[in-house]
Amino acid sequence: MIVGTGHYLPDKVLTNADLEKMVDTSDEWITTRTGIKERRVAAPEETTSDFSAAAALSALECAGVEPTEVELIITGTINGDMKFPSTSVFVQQKIGNKKGVGFDVGAACCGFLYSLTVADALIGCGMFNNALVIGTELLTRVTDWDDRRTCVLFGDGSGAVYLEKSQGERGLLSSTLHSDGSLTHLLYYLGEGTKYPSSHKTIDNGYHFLRMDGREIFKYAVREMGNASAQAIEKAGLKPSDIDLVIPHQANIRIINALANRLGVDYDKVVVNIDKTGNTSSASIPIAMDQAHRSGRIVEGMNVLMTVFGGGLTWGAAVVKF
Ligand code: UT7
Repeated sequence: MIVGTGHYLPDKVLTNADLEKMVDTSDEWITTRTGIKERRVAAPEETTSDFSAAAALSALECAGVEPTEVELIITGTINGDMKFPSTSVFVQQKIGNKKGVGFDVGAACCGFLYSLTVADALIGCGMFNNALVIGTELLTRVTDWDDRRTCVLFGDGSGAVYLEKSQGERGLLSSTLHSDGSLTHLLYYLGEGTKYPSSHKTIDNGYHFLRMDGREIFKYAVREMGNASAQAIEKAGLKPSDIDLVIPHQANIRIINALANRLGVDYDKVVVNIDKTGNTSSASIPIAMDQAHRSGRIVEGMNVLMTVFGGGLTWGAAVVKF
């Protein structure tokens, strides 16, 4: 069950007006097509594990648990400090933990939901008593600032939850995860792997930037997040009317609105922060969750539905009783 939540956002704000000075775009286009007004950007010296450690400490403080007590750390990220070691072991060191074990999960925007599901299963089978689950991306580090189709969308941030063994009805009620490897060409980062090891050529060809066919992904996102949400609600033994709050991945306000219509839930039950954060990938759900928790929108006993879609393609949904 989720005992504590936390998040971290860097100070620097990049507004649509700032982007108007960088590429051929407009506040009007970005706002109407995406719902984004501003996003946060990491300072040059900040790393994925700095963000993750800050969000993790915030979740632990919320739970009233000492960092030394954590047994498992899983970070969902596709853009860690380095190729290896994992970002989670840097987090372990930064929060002052020696007892635990850490590793990362690479599932693009779905990184947090996949990590949450893995952590819950490892606690459920008795291997660990608790876990920190973190979603962090600094996608502005792999953004092509000359590509207006992507550079207006992404922001940096981190969110985290602290989990313990479920008690009574509280805990992860259901999770449904999916991927389709025939659609890798819709969202990818070519460089720095075994296929295209770094060279002058990979830099000249821009393989160190994220690329996305947003229009094509849009169609899948609405349909599959809707399907996965319905599956997760049914698997939890609930009806759509039993869901108290929906936390969707914050990729596009039009996708969020279409999803709300499809699920038949009122807009006031849907958490939206995309106007302030942009798309923070795997950090998007845990940031929105912590904001909702701290503002009192999430209280104990609530059924919260999360759903997400991203590169892979990967997608999924989960229901948690707080
Ligand atoms: O988080 C991972 C999962 N990702 C997603 O879920 C993203 C899903 N996709 C989307 O959110 C949307 O497809 C985008 C926001 C990425 C794009 O919105 P769209 O309504 O699908 O726009 P489009 O790509 O169809 O482009 C429409 C027009 C094009 O011009 P033409 O060809 O019609 O003349 C683009 O060149 O808008 C143009 N355009 C822009 N214009 C001003 C594309 N980007 C911009 C821009 N400013 N930043």
